[in-house]
Amino acid sequence: MKLKTKISLLSAAVALCCGSVGAQTGAAGEVAAPASMPWMNAQLGAEERARLAVAAMTMDEKLKLVYGYLGSDMESKKTTRPAPSYKQSAGFIYGVPRLGIPNLWETDAGVGVASQGGPDARPGTALPSGLNTAATWDLGTAYAGGAMIGAEARAYGFNVLLAGGVNLMREPRNGRNFEYAGEDPLLAGKIVGAQIKGIQSNRIVSTLKHYALNDQETNRTTLNVKIDDRSARMSDLLALQIANEEGNPGSVMCSYNRVNGVYACENSYLLNEVLKKDWGFKGWVMSDWGATHSTIPAANAGLDQQSGMPFDLADYFGPPLKEAVLNGWVPQSRLDDMVRRILHAMFAHGVVDHPVAPAPQSIDFGAHAAVSRKDAQEGMVLLKNSTGALPLSRSAKKIAVIGGYADRGVLAGGGSSLVYPAGGNAAPELLPKTWPGPVMVYPSSPLKAIKARLPSATVAYADGSDRAAAAKLARESDVVLVFATQWTGEGFDMPNLSLTDKQDELIATVAEANANTVVVLETGGPVTMPWLAKVSAVLEAWYPGSDGGEAIAGVLFGEVNPSGRLPATFPASESQLPRPALDGFPEVADRRFDVNYNEGAAVGYKWFDLKGLTPLFPFGHGLSYTEFAFSDLAASVKGGVVRASFTVKNTGKVAGKQVAQLYVSPLTARWEAPKRLAGFQKVEVQPGAGVQASVTVDPRLLAVFDSASKTWKVAKGDYKLTLAANAADSKAVSTVVHLDAAVYDVNGKPTR
Ligand code: BGC
Repeated sequence: MKLKTKISLLSAAVALCCGSVGAQTGAAGEVAAPASMPWMNAQLGAEERARLAVAAMTMDEKLKLVYGYLGSDMESKKTTRPAPSYKQSAGFIYGVPRLGIPNLWETDAGVGVASQGGPDARPGTALPSGLNTAATWDLGTAYAGGAMIGAEARAYGFNVLLAGGVNLMREPRNGRNFEYAGEDPLLAGKIVGAQIKGIQSNRIVSTLKHYALNDQETNRTTLNVKIDDRSARMSDLLALQIANEEGNPGSVMCSYNRVNGVYACENSYLLNEVLKKDWGFKGWVMSDWGATHSTIPAANAGLDQQSGMPFDLADYFGPPLKEAVLNGWVPQSRLDDMVRRILHAMFAHGVVDHPVAPAPQSIDFGAHAAVSRKDAQEGMVLLKNSTGALPLSRSAKKIAVIGGYADRGVLAGGGSSLVYPAGGNAAPELLPKTWPGPVMVYPSSPLKAIKARLPSATVAYADGSDRAAAAKLARESDVVLVFATQWTGEGFDMPNLSLTDKQDELIATVAEANANTVVVLETGGPVTMPWLAKVSAVLEAWYPGSDGGEAIAGVLFGEVNPSGRLPATFPASESQLPRPALDGFPEVADRRFDVNYNEGAAVGYKWFDLKGLTPLFPFGHGLSYTEFAFSDLAASVKGGVVRASFTVKNTGKVAGKQVAQLYVSPLTARWEAPKRLAGFQKVEVQPGAGVQASVTVDPRLLAVFDSASKTWKVAKGDYKLTLAANAADSKAVSTVVHLDAAVYDVNGKPTR
């Protein structure tokens, strides 16, 4: 569907923001301030404007802003959405039209404009999964994707995008890993920060979530995470901290779980102390949908807005909050602070000065699909290519394509982040059809894209349900492409790391029939591969988004040289994980238990290094259709700042992109693990050429957090810098630097 309605920004602004008091809009869409509304003066800073607006508000107007509704009807509770909200949307908050403060229209999430289930889903462009974007190791791609989905959000009339998921992958079975950015705090924080920046370039607010330590779905609302402060600051919180610094999100969403005994949304340590005081966060904290549990404790602990009512058991931030303010249990100054924070974000990010239009505007779905495709192709990871099976030859005569609904499309992850495609679900029969489904297959068929590239070959498809038939087809073909899918989603975890539905058996059978078998994986995260030795190539295509079929075919045929690198370790088996069995699995509703993060900050490859484990594929791994070599590694230390420069050479025959990964290991000091990723740079190199690049190291990655003094302390001593193509690279080059003892503040800034 093409949306053609064009509404001018000018009329939209007047209609939405000004009512009878009547601020005026100028040609550029900027709202001019009448003398009676000084906070509408865009020349003033956001802080001053928020202060002025709060001073003009009545108590009831303030209370409206801190109370969020679900933007959909909720049959189970017999509630209907507020009239001005958008159908099947995530959330809605009434503004204060009298004062020119617009409503907040909220939509999910990190891969595009999602819709809650139902008949009126709005069509949108889906980016590939967040994990794919992390696998690009490219901030420009992450920004561009953010800018695209932010533009779609604005075009649909939303001014808050609930994107920005950066929960660390502690648990590869977590059903929501596909929404996040992997296991490393630096990579995840930078990528998600860049995406948030791109979203907010549309003058809307983006959200950083889920704060914090919500790293499994099983009993997510009842479990209690136990972790010491130092470890949290150096892992999950560091990812959030970096994303906050990079992206400057207007809002942060607190999570469902408890942390060290206290619900995240009433955890004063996390909200007041870490986020607002230590990190200086100036925006507002909204609860996840159903994550508010009280009035007085939550408000005083730093929660600024209850979300998604009627998701919570009670309207804690409705009349009970008014009563609590009137009787003094929640200070008036605290209510003012809640509102000031919401307004600060609205002013700072252009929500007030550049109001969204009241009706959908046109969207160039073709251009947006190209953004999604580029992200997908930049993030697909070529895991194996031992016999040079890829890129596929265009002279192949007989190709078999097997399984994974490849005749119809590509898989998407389930839950609140699900974007509905313009062409409808290509596999509507799949179960579940309702939450956290529907299982969505985007109508971008890899089979069709492959056929288009081989007009004179025989390309035959078997759905894989009949293994013998698939083997027969494989035997009669020159090349076999097996597509394997793993549907993951919000609200549930995977029982293990195996592919479901006997797909491992299918791949093994097909590979036995024809050794020239290429496996294309569409998975939410890491999976085990018992058939790995039998196949010639494996391409991890994650959930490749709206244009996934084309994206996959482009990489398979070498139109695009794969340059994705794993943002998470692929374990050889569950027994290698810190928790071989997932806590609480299988889920029993309302069960309360602790999840002990005894691995501390040793997450992912750090854990594997610490324990001397060999994974199936290491963090950072990814092949190319060319070869690279690193040289000229030189490091300097100036004022404690470490900078490494180096050359990346393309020693192969085609142009390609390499991700130079700088790891640092203390030679004398003790860290949570032998090494950390300290920096990275993706570079494009022509065949035979060399490109110089450099990386500057964030001092926090050379330090250990000291909770008592809230500082990052670098220990005096020697540190090995290793430039590598992955966390277990045998061809890595290294050098040693000496560092003096140094102390950095809680945000990694020099203390003197
Ligand atoms: C999810 C959030 C989402 C919210 C609104 C919750 O179930 O955890 O990530 O933004 O719903 O849809």
